[in-house]
Amino acid sequence: MAMATKVKPALLMALQGQRPPGPPPIWLMRQAGRYLPEYRALRAEVDGFLALCYDPARAAEVTLQPIRRFDFDAAILFSDILVVPHALGQDIAFRAGEGPVLGAVTGLGDLAGLQPAKAAAVYAPVLETVARVRDQLPAQKALIGFAGAPWTVATYMVEGGGSKDQAAARRRAFEAADGFFPALIDMLVATTAEYMIAQVRAGADALQIFDSWSGSLAATAFDDWVIAPTKALVTRIRAACPEVPIIGFPKGVGARLADYVSGTGVDAVGLDASLPPAWVGRQLPEGLAVQGNLDPMALLAGGAALQREVEAILQGFADRPHVFNLGHGIVPETPIAHVEDLVAMVRKGSGQ
Ligand code: CP3
Repeated sequence: MAMATKVKPALLMALQGQRPPGPPPIWLMRQAGRYLPEYRALRAEVDGFLALCYDPARAAEVTLQPIRRFDFDAAILFSDILVVPHALGQDIAFRAGEGPVLGAVTGLGDLAGLQPAKAAAVYAPVLETVARVRDQLPAQKALIGFAGAPWTVATYMVEGGGSKDQAAARRRAFEAADGFFPALIDMLVATTAEYMIAQVRAGADALQIFDSWSGSLAATAFDDWVIAPTKALVTRIRAACPEVPIIGFPKGVGARLADYVSGTGVDAVGLDASLPPAWVGRQLPEGLAVQGNLDPMALLAGGAALQREVEAILQGFADRPHVFNLGHGIVPETPIAHVEDLVAMVRKGSGQ
């Protein structure tokens, strides 16, 4: 539903460093997903999670479900960070209760088997989803495209799935002398940049780079495998799409927050729940937009505990552009009523 007058989405104002009038814009990581009965119903119609990611009509519908239900300020493309390794030709299966299982890529021989030149043909349906969503989304709502950061995607590719401490990828990163890990990261930077640029051309208004495992790296490795590849990615996207705001989400970044922001050049930074607003305020340049950082467990708990957390976050970030969000993805057990309460609390504008 396009609107007659051009309205700038509040999310874009915040990401561009302005404080929009009224309460901060709100969206939630993993806002489309298993806590919603309408998602579970649609998910049951397809054979496997990846099939849903590559089904533009259903993926667009799932993207829009949380906007209709909660009136969030932004939609996030329904897809997954593992679409990139899949598009490169790596085998991937999502098994119920087990998470993703990937054919491991651990050496130069495995890399030679991947086919970056064919990736765009595989992810083409995701771009069709972006176009469909942008068409159906009201003008005042932003559409966020996304991809995983090279480091986080590399951890899944090297481990062959999720892991507690990313040990295999951390080890291969320290064995960079054999050429494998730098070549893997270079391939991910190039393919991810093309993919994100294509999302913008298809209609995405902003982009988020998910670096869910940035917190697992040693200090020197963080410079080499989080900051440098993210900077390369941001530079390529900016060259093609200078207007599109880029949110970096370096989960677990801790003491490296300011280095991450200045070193990568992201427009805004997503904060996990461990970071205190007052400390963040001292670390970051004035006017830099932040996003976050409610603990998903506070949303699960609800009630007075939720209220207290929300107020602390609203007050803590009242002096800079702020996008209200969780510090990590919403969990499937979250009651819908708690999400409704959260939106009402944020829109009531405590902390203004
Ligand atoms: O935020 C959104 O609503 C958009 C969609 C989205 C999904 N995954 C859908 C999804 C986004 C942005 C992601 C990002 C993602 N995927 C990350 C980075 C953020 C984070 O959580 O740290 C990571 C590490 C992944 C990889 C991934 N995808 C895992 C480990 C799993 C299995 C665990 C789980 O929660 O099931 C997935 C599957 C997945 N991605 C689901 C959804 C809705 C559930 C699968 C299903 O419905 O069967």
